[in-house]
Amino acid sequence: MLSTALITLLLATSTIAAPAADYKLPTSSTPPTSTALPTGLPASCTTETKANPTLFSALTLAPNAVDRLALISDADLVFKFNDPCRLQGVAKGLGGNVTRADHASFPALTTQKGSVAVGFLSPCGFNTPHVHPRSSELNLVIEGSLFAQFVAENGAVFRSHTLNKFDMTVFPQGAIHTEFNPLCTPSTFVASFPDEDPGVGQIAQEFFGLTDEIVQGALGGDVNVAGQDIDAFKGKLPVNVVKGVESCLKKCGIKKREVAA
Ligand SMILES: *[C@@H]1O[C@H](CO)[C@@H](O)[C@H](O)[C@H]1NC(C)=O
Repeated sequence: MLSTALITLLLATSTIAAPAADYKLPTSSTPPTSTALPTGLPASCTTETKANPTLFSALTLAPNAVDRLALISDADLVFKFNDPCRLQGVAKGLGGNVTRADHASFPALTTQKGSVAVGFLSPCGFNTPHVHPRSSELNLVIEGSLFAQFVAENGAVFRSHTLNKFDMTVFPQGAIHTEFNPLCTPSTFVASFPDEDPGVGQIAQEFFGLTDEIVQGALGGDVNVAGQDIDAFKGKLPVNVVKGVESCLKKCGIKKREVAA
């Protein structure tokens, strides 16, 4: 009885609220409201390649694998790493990009326990030091070569090596690691993770994101670094993937402020 009254009331309210008289269907000459492309996409993209959060939610709620698979179309099963119109799961800077298929950008991975990133590094391109909080990483070079370093934890031996085409290395979970293309030609790597959502934290951005006083204290106080320098730093940290390290830029004759093609 009570619920019938409530429904009647809701129906009545929605009828009153509907702006029936003022509503016009958009005509073909009416420009869509959001024609502006999100910043960061090349002009050749007419639209952004979007992940599908609704699909991700449905896959998460599916009671079993058969039902889950039924929700995934053939198109949903293909992830294009070289799609220039993708923003989600992409770290893009002057030195190239790292494009990641995790369960957010590629929902078909849901419950499959792994993810993959492809790093496209321009000449001297530099994937700045970072950690994956929830996963180790296998890193396989498929074009060019990489200079890689990592430090796993306090007290652990510092590691450093060069990977040539079809060489692979492993970065332990939580290790601070970095990959740098020492060549004047592009290098490409495939990174695989035994987790659908490995996560990534760029060390400089994370560290300098802390309160100035904390950062200064950690760096040895004002004997070592002035407070205003920390502020100046914060605003100027480059977006990953970075253009390179000095010696490589010099060797390849690349100007520091030159924009990547
Ligand atoms: C990343 O770089 C590769 C190689 O240049 C390119 O094919 C791809 O479209 C780029 N992805 C994005 C999102 O810019």
